[in-house]
Amino acid sequence: MRVELPTGWRQASRSRSSFRWELRLLTTGVLLLALLSAPAALADNGGFTPVDPASPNAEGIRDTFLFVSIFIVAVFVLVEALLVAFVWRYRRQRRNRFEDGAQIHGATSLELVWTVGPVVILFLIGAFVFIELPGIANIPSAGASGDRLEVRVTGRQFYWQYEYPNGVVAIDTLRAPAGVPVRLEVTAPDEDVIHSWWIPALGGKIDAIPGTTNETWFEAERPGVYEGQCAELCGLEHAKMLASVEVLPADEFDAWLAERASAQASVELGAEEWEGVCAKCHGLSGEGGIAPRIAGSPVLADPQALEEIVRNGRGEMPAVGSGWTEEQMKALATYLRENPPDGQ
Ligand code: CUA
Repeated sequence: MRVELPTGWRQASRSRSSFRWELRLLTTGVLLLALLSAPAALADNGGFTPVDPASPNAEGIRDTFLFVSIFIVAVFVLVEALLVAFVWRYRRQRRNRFEDGAQIHGATSLELVWTVGPVVILFLIGAFVFIELPGIANIPSAGASGDRLEVRVTGRQFYWQYEYPNGVVAIDTLRAPAGVPVRLEVTAPDEDVIHSWWIPALGGKIDAIPGTTNETWFEAERPGVYEGQCAELCGLEHAKMLASVEVLPADEFDAWLAERASAQASVELGAEEWEGVCAKCHGLSGEGGIAPRIAGSPVLADPQALEEIVRNGRGEMPAVGSGWTEEQMKALATYLRENPPDGQ
């Protein structure tokens, strides 16, 4: 294939303004490319790859992503290179504007290549996904230690509530033991909206849908804090609906769970409720945000009034604490009595 020199280089007669126009186009293109790649360069993982997996299901998802990416990148480069080459090779040049270019009919071998090629690619991707899928979807029945933990995860505007089998409740930060499969039952209350549970290092997204229970799992290999975010636009404070999983060595986790089950720890739950449930709208010091300032409000110091408004909502405030246990109510009241927000 003979590539001809640009007309502008060959013909001295070509106007300078048209050359300047090309230069401008090129500069804009380069700037745009630089802008597009900047966020990727700034993000620590390059922005293009999933975060390092810390659970077998997340590993399966990462591997699938990388495998599919090989074909995506190859097809992208091939198609774009051909596009540019064809635009260049078959440009109008000095042909009359309304005159057709050369007509081409039939190219059996080429047609075979572009039919068989995609079929083979789809087959390879399909086969790879089917091999990886069981490791992503299926929850291991037990870990090396023979244990398995079940946690109920409820997505609500705008917090995550976790319930452990022994009745312990936690908000936004889920604690879990390392090396133990954790099965999550993910749901949302009937009167709420759809949220989505997603801790990238610990596996894929799963929707928290009112009236439906979905399940997912993770088994974190090592202790650490894994950050995530509600992945379904769920209202004004969706961006604040962060979630994190704090993975502890198994014995530390057992100690935490036992300690949290005792009544003395309820102020800790109260703090989680204030920060996770109240403060996202009313501000950390009750100074107000998308919801009114509540620092100094007599309701905060009156457990009965507090329970009434938290359980049932009022005006535009939703019933953020509908379905809360007595323990949860007490925890919030205790916390607020000991730490009244000062509005600063
Ligand atoms: Cu919940 Cu977004």
